Amino acid sequence: MQSNDKKIALVTGANKGLGFEISRQLAKQEITVLIGARDESKGAEAAEKLQAQGLDVQSIKLDVTDISSIATAAKNIEEHFGKLDILVNNAGIFLDSGTNPSDLDLNILKQTFETNVFGAFAVLQATLPLIRKSNAGRIVNMSSTLGSLTDTLDPNSHYFGLRGLAYQATKAALNEITAQFSKELA
Ligand SMILES: NC(=O)c1ccc[n+]([C@@H]2O[C@H](COP(=O)([O-])OP(=O)(O)OC[C@H]3O[C@@H](n4cnc5c(N)ncnc54)[C@H](OP(=O)(O)O)[C@@H]3O)[C@@H](O)[C@H]2O)c1
Repeated sequence: MQSNDKKIALVTGANKGLGFEISRQLAKQEITVLIGARDESKGAEAAEKLQAQGLDVQSIKLDVTDISSIATAAKNIEEHFGKLDILVNNAGIFLDSGTNPSDLDLNILKQTFETNVFGAFAVLQATLPLIRKSNAGRIVNMSSTLGSLTDTLDPNSHYFGLRGLAYQATKAALNEITAQFSKELA
């Protein structure tokens, strides 16, 4: 097991986009970063890019919609590091941009909840015992202004005209999850 001094971060959906950049910036702060990716080869490629910059990152296979993948990842983190200091629940999908609610396919709504809500919740719950072992554990759930009911209903908001019930509902739900855990873990 690696020495406990260095902080360990897990970023889900980190093989590209915001997750990749979050990983880079955390690693630049002398944190060991685990790049979660559902596709092992994409995760390895992303990790190699950051390792080439001298950063301490490793890829870890993690599909947030697959409960056994989550359990395996948590077990691996426990075995190698014994704790988790930072979880960034970043993995997310936005499949219904521009779709009116009446045209939304129920399967798209379910799929979006599987990833953005149930996935984030399952990863948080599975890693919580490890985060509790940290001296200063941190959990970041990547929400969006699009999850704000205030903005959705405010005609003066930049976001008023946007359509994406599935994505927006999942981010509103994720906000509630964040609020609930923040009270329990305060
Ligand atoms: N971009 C924005 O302007 C913005 C604004 C507000 C909030 N956000 C939030 O920020 C997060 C990242 O957004 P982004 O723009 O960087 O998105 P992105 O470029 O589409 O990247 C999404 C990441 O999530 C991964 N992912 C999707 N489903 C997954 C699953 N089942 N298991 C594990 N990983 C999965 C993707 O993996 P694959 O490569 O395998 O598909 C990818 O690595 C999302 O939660 C998004 O809602 C983004």
